[in-house]
Amino acid sequence: MMKDFISILDINKEELNQLLADAHELKRQKKEGIPHLLLSGRTLAMIFEKSSTRTHISFEVGMNELGGHALFLNARDMQIWRGEEIRDTARAASRYVSAMMIRAYKHSTIEEFAKYATIPVINGLSDMEHPCQLLADIMTMQEHFGSTQDLKVAWVGDGNNVCNSLILSTVLTGLDVTVSTPKGYEPYADYVKKAQDLGGKVTLVREPELAVKDAEVIVTDTWISMGDENERDERMKLFGDYTVDSDLMKLASPDARVLHCLPAHRGEEITDEVMEGGQSLVWDEAENRLHAQKALLVWLLKK
Ligand code: CP
Ligand code: NVA
Repeated sequence: MMKDFISILDINKEELNQLLADAHELKRQKKEGIPHLLLSGRTLAMIFEKSSTRTHISFEVGMNELGGHALFLNARDMQIWRGEEIRDTARAASRYVSAMMIRAYKHSTIEEFAKYATIPVINGLSDMEHPCQLLADIMTMQEHFGSTQDLKVAWVGDGNNVCNSLILSTVLTGLDVTVSTPKGYEPYADYVKKAQDLGGKVTLVREPELAVKDAEVIVTDTWISMGDENERDERMKLFGDYTVDSDLMKLASPDARVLHCLPAHRGEEITDEVMEGGQSLVWDEAENRLHAQKALLVWLLKK
C-alpha cells in the first residue's frame, strides 16, 4: 500500500522503532564507508515554498547516498506559483518521480498534493507540523538516553509546528512532554487532545521554570516561524521570558540535554552559551536529519 508521511502519526509505534533502527544502522554504515545504494534509479522531487538549509541538504545528500537522485524545485519557479492547480501538478509530477517532499506554508497544500499524487508525499514542514524533524529528534534522544520511554521533555517558547509534532510523537515514544508558552501561543489544541486521548503524556503550563524543572531534555525553537514575520514586534515582547539560558538550565536535571531544530536566534529563544555549551546536542540533531530521512525514504519506497 502506498504510504505518505505528512504527520508523525502517519507511522505507528512499531514502524517508527524499525525506521529508527534502520536510521542508526545507515548512520553506522556511512561512518564505516559501507555503501547502501538501496534506492538506485529513484528520484525525489523536493518542492520548497519556504527557505531551507538542513531539509534541502539532508534530503538531497540522502538520496545521493542511497544511489538515487533529488530534484530541487523552488515553488516560485513552478507553474503552481502562476496558478496551476495542485491536483494537476501532483498528477503530472507523479509520472516523473518516485516520491515528493513538500515544504509549504499551508498544511492543506501538502494534503492536497497527497490526495492526487500516486507516489509517496513527505511533509518537509508546514504551518502545522514538522514530522521529519521529530524523526531526527527522537533518534538523537535514543542515541543519548537509550530509551525515550518516560523521558521528561520540556518545550520552551512558541507552540509551533515542531512543538505540535513533538506532542503527537508522545503517542509513539512514551516521552513525557511539558510545554510552556505565553498565553495565546499554545500548541494546536486538537493535537494536544488527540495525543492525550491516545495515551500520550502532554502537559501545558505557562512558566518555563515549571516545564524545565527536573526535565531531561529541553527543546526550543524560533519565536518567529516562517510565515509569522509580520508578528515580530508583538512576539518579541511576549516571549522575553522564554529564553533557554544557563539560569533556566540550572532548574533542569543536571544531565539534561538541549535540542533545537535550527536555525537558532542567539539571544532570543536560546543563548549562545547554551547553544555552544556541553549540554547542547544540536549538531548531532542536525546530522540525524540525514540518517533518519534516508531510513524514511527507504521505508516509503521499498517495494
Ligand atoms: N530544521 C530545519 O528544518 O531546518 P531548515 O529550515 O534549514 O530546513
Ligand atoms: N518553526 C520553524 C522551524 C524551522 C525549521 C519555522 O516553521 O520556521
